[in-house]
Amino acid sequence: MRTPEGLILGIETSCDETAAAVVVDGSKVLSSVVSSQIDIHGRYGGVVPEVASRAHVEMMNPVIAQSIVEAGIDPKELTAVAATVGPGLIGSLLIGVSAAKSLALVWDKPFVAVNHLEAHLYAAFLEEPDLPLPIVVLLVSGGHTMLVLMEGHGKYRLLGQTLDDAAGEAFDKVARYLGLGYPGGPVIDELSAAGDPHAIVFPRAMMKDGYNFSFSGVKTSVVNHVRKHPDVGAADVAASFQEAVVDVLTTKAKAAVVEHGALGICLAGGVAANSSLRERTLDVATELDVRAFVPSRSLCTDNAAMVAAAGWYRLQSDGPTALDHGANSNLPLPVY
Ligand code: KG4
Ligand code: ZN
Repeated sequence: MRTPEGLILGIETSCDETAAAVVVDGSKVLSSVVSSQIDIHGRYGGVVPEVASRAHVEMMNPVIAQSIVEAGIDPKELTAVAATVGPGLIGSLLIGVSAAKSLALVWDKPFVAVNHLEAHLYAAFLEEPDLPLPIVVLLVSGGHTMLVLMEGHGKYRLLGQTLDDAAGEAFDKVARYLGLGYPGGPVIDELSAAGDPHAIVFPRAMMKDGYNFSFSGVKTSVVNHVRKHPDVGAADVAASFQEAVVDVLTTKAKAAVVEHGALGICLAGGVAANSSLRERTLDVATELDVRAFVPSRSLCTDNAAMVAAAGWYRLQSDGPTALDHGANSNLPLPVY
């Protein structure tokens, strides 16, 4: 087999997913293995950092081995080994970073440090390698909510971000309050299908206030409403809450596309798996006659294929990363 130019092993351990993937040229996924710790953390109602680190230690080697076997490659053929170096839980990040550096050293391959937020942006390139730029990206995960204008590879303009809770965090907190379990996003998404999104009008904070977001108020409103109306149906609460969050996200993304003359709108991050957000984003794109890029659900939530894709672009722009590069739990997206 002729070695492709960009055969990258990606490793992701920033939160509660141990993942490894092999991707060619930032777009062709040969394997993508994700070992989720949801069952382990579920009983605590959220991710317990120390428990997550220990689970990563246990799963890291088998997950990497599986990704190599499923890809049908010999590690000698790899171009580089890329790993998420932040942001995320520091103990978890260090497991993936150490594994990646060790393998890079043993296999004599370059190591590439990847920013987890940038990796989420590159999920769309796995399915649309020729994504036309500039695009407005709505990056919505458990830890972040950002509206980004992507003008080129590695060229990001931050248009706005949350001033308090991330969108995913609001889903998780509301689900926990309603006793629906963890993670909250998928459960609220599913339950909403049986509810009326207009049953309760929850507040849309900062709707006419630029591109920043605030989601702590809507969460408090849900709590207050349920306290006042203990007999209210959980499906109506879930659907109305989801409607309020999706309304704010898509209204601001739409305004950003118009203001910046973007050619498309793209979703990224775990909350991008939300059915209503996906539908409404497609509607907005149709309305504005621009393209919509809504990655497959498995590429929206944490995975290593997106890390390998971002790693390939970073290797081309910045070259290999020094092996003394550490992990940074607060690493920001490099915006200007
Ligand atoms: O990107 P991700 O997998 O991890 C982080 O980097 O944070 O995002 C996880 C977040 C969680 O808050 C989870 O509740 C949310 O994404 N999520 C969803 C859905 N699936 C996952 N939120 C709404 N609807 C979903 N279907
Ligand atoms: Zn993530």
